[in-house]
Amino acid sequence: MNSAITVRRLVAADAPGLTRCFERCYGTTYPSDIFYATQRLATAIEAGNLRSVVAVTENNIIGHTGLTVRHDGARAIEAGNTVVDPNWRGQGLLGELGTALTELCRAEGFAAYVHYPTTAHEIMQKRSVQSGGTETGLMLAYIPAETNYTAIDHTSGRLAATVVFQPCEAMPHRRVYLPERYAQVLKALFDDCNLERTFSAPATQSTGSAAEFVMHERRGLLHAFVTRAAADLPQQIDAASGSATAPVIQVDLCLDDPAVSAAVDALAAGGFYFAALMPEFAHTDVLRLQRINQTSAAEFEPALANPGAQRLLRYIKADRHSSAPA
Ligand SMILES: CC(C)(COP(=O)(O)OP(=O)(O)OC[C@H]1O[C@@H](n2cnc3c(N)ncnc32)[C@H](O)[C@@H]1OP(=O)(O)O)[C@@H](O)C(=O)NCCC(=O)NCCS
Repeated sequence: MNSAITVRRLVAADAPGLTRCFERCYGTTYPSDIFYATQRLATAIEAGNLRSVVAVTENNIIGHTGLTVRHDGARAIEAGNTVVDPNWRGQGLLGELGTALTELCRAEGFAAYVHYPTTAHEIMQKRSVQSGGTETGLMLAYIPAETNYTAIDHTSGRLAATVVFQPCEAMPHRRVYLPERYAQVLKALFDDCNLERTFSAPATQSTGSAAEFVMHERRGLLHAFVTRAAADLPQQIDAASGSATAPVIQVDLCLDDPAVSAAVDALAAGGFYFAALMPEFAHTDVLRLQRINQTSAAEFEPALANPGAQRLLRYIKADRHSSAPA
C-alpha cells in the first residue's frame, strides 16, 4: 500500500470527511441517508452503532468500510458501506480495509459478519467468496435504481445484492427450529457455512405475531424484524405498509421461535419467498424472506459472479413460483 495512506479506526470527528468521501463516490445517490447527515453520523459513531475503519491520506478520507450493530446478543454483525474514492481505486485499498475490518470485528467481540455485495459489478461478489465467505442469500431489487456507483457500474433498474456470511472465529453450536418449507435449503446452507445445528420439531403456533417495522424511504424498503411469529404476520405487514406499498418488503424471522414454520407458510401464501439465511444475526439464526411489489423481469436476472449465488437464484425463482402472487 502507498506509504502516505493510513488505515485506522473511524472517530466521530471524521464524520464531515466521511460524508465528503461518500459524495465523491456516489454523488447524492447513496441509499443510506445517514452518510449525508453529518451530525447524525457523528452521533452513530460516538454511540458505537457504526464501527468502521477508514483509509486516510493528507487528512482526507479515501476509503471506508464499517460494522453496524443491528440486534442485541448477535454474534454476527452487519458489515458494509464499503467505498474507495474513485481517484484511489485499483491500488489494493479494498483488501487493506477488509483485513482491518476483520480485526475490528474480532476486537469488538463478534465472531462473524454478514455483508451484502452489490451486483452492480463483480468486484465485491468475487472478493467476498475468495476471502472465505459463503453466499447464503440473494436480496432481489435491494438497491434503488438511482444509486450511481460513479465510474464503475454499467447497469440500470433496481439491483440485487448477495448475502455473504464471513466467520472470523469458531461459531457456537445451536438448536433451532427448521421451517418445513425451507428445511432442505437451510440444512445445505448451514453445512456450507460449517455450522453445527440441532433441529427441534415444530411446536404449536402462538396466537398473535409481533414485529418491529422500519421503512427505509430512500431505499424503498419496508423491513420487519419479527419478535414473535404467528400466522397473522401477513396482515400485520399489510397494516404496517398502509396504502403506500414499498417496492420491496423484507421480513426477518428468528429460528429459535417455535412458530416459525407456520409463519413461513402464512408468508408464502402472502407472496413472500426465500431471501437469505443469516446465521447468528440476532440472538439466534435469522431467516430473511422478501417480496418485490413492483416487479420487472430484469430484477430476476441479476449479474451473479459465483456459482453459490447462481444456485440460490434458481432456488428463489422456483420458490417464488410456488408462493402466491404478490
Ligand atoms: C469496489 C471498490 C470498493 C473496490 O476498491 P479498490 O480499492 O479499487 O479495490 P482493488 O484495488 O482491490 O481493485 C478491485 C478491482 O477493481 C479494478 N480497478 C482498478 N482500477 C480501477 C478503477 N480506476 N476503477 C474501477 N475499478 C478499478 C481492479 O483491477 C480490481 O480488479 P480485480 O478484482 O479483477 O483485481 C471500489 O471500486 C468502489 O468504491 N466502488 C464503488 C462503491 C462500491 O461498489 N462499493 C461496494 C458496495 S457492496
